[in-house]
Amino acid sequence: MYFGYAAGLVNHPWTDTSLPVNLMLMQRSARGICVWAPAKVNLFLEVLARRPDGYHELATLMTAVSLYDTLEFTEERSSTAFGNEEGVTALRCNAPSLSTGPDNLICRAVEVVRRASGRSDGVGIRLWKRIPVAAGLAGGSSDAAATLAGLNSLWRLGWDRCKLMQLGAELGSDVPFFFAAPAAWCTGRGEQIEPLRLGRTLDLVLITPPVGLSTAEVFRGVTVPNEPRSGAAIRQAAAAGDVKELGRQLHNRLQPAAERLCPAVADLFARLVSLGPAGQLMTGSGSTVFALCRNPGEALSLARALTSARDELGGARVFVVRSCH
Ligand code: C5P
Repeated sequence: MYFGYAAGLVNHPWTDTSLPVNLMLMQRSARGICVWAPAKVNLFLEVLARRPDGYHELATLMTAVSLYDTLEFTEERSSTAFGNEEGVTALRCNAPSLSTGPDNLICRAVEVVRRASGRSDGVGIRLWKRIPVAAGLAGGSSDAAATLAGLNSLWRLGWDRCKLMQLGAELGSDVPFFFAAPAAWCTGRGEQIEPLRLGRTLDLVLITPPVGLSTAEVFRGVTVPNEPRSGAAIRQAAAAGDVKELGRQLHNRLQPAAERLCPAVADLFARLVSLGPAGQLMTGSGSTVFALCRNPGEALSLARALTSARDELGGARVFVVRSCH
């Protein structure tokens, strides 16, 4: 079981205010820049329309949560790294299953920064992966946002939030959110951001099945509703910090499509319902589902109940987290 309360992560005590980008947890390390990249969950996700460019028009309420990947950025002159003639990108990662090649969104983010800045310096990146992949938690997008922010700082580019969001949108629909986190109402394909302040810190338990889901595949299976659900009530509940009402208003249009592709999503969702939290939902395009709890004690006992039934739940991983603020 993972506890996102550990070491005061939730309150961001390590934010180095001398750094120009104040949207992620950043710290100068002895060797370079360290960035803590949070996961996110969607408390509401409605699909409004299919667009001619293949994307879908969305309305979604997202909050960052206290489950973090860590990235360390350093100057790199290694000749073993891959890269173009000018600069090298050497990505090392604790998760052997993850590609560290040019297809990794982190490496693509480095190329975006090189192109936009004209800089060709080599960079070394160490990634400590804790956020499950293909799980609806936007770990890859958060890592990409952290890379833009980290290089902005390492190379002293002086880009503002607006520029970082613009570059982030080129990399993925969820990337710009991380420059507006902790919480936001997002529209368009997810890249139009309206920051929102949660009325209270939310206690959540995430449960991630061992099987991930492809975002594109889930979107392919979605039915665009004739009468989309309004987000007015959940925005109001979120701003007021009314957990009971938030629980009632949780909604994700992608969940039926994800459940068809991955029955574990439906099984875990049913298990959460039986444990009686304020609400439960799948996040993003899955496969993680979460329980919205009334307080930290409830989150802890719910997580204990889930971990004690771990074998029954097919080896799903459990994370106790809080919304970032
Ligand atoms: O932008 P991103 O790379 O995160 O999107 C992954 C895939 O998810 C897209 O290629 C698209 O098929 C689908 N998607 C969508 N509508 C969105 C966001 C993503 O159809 N708003």
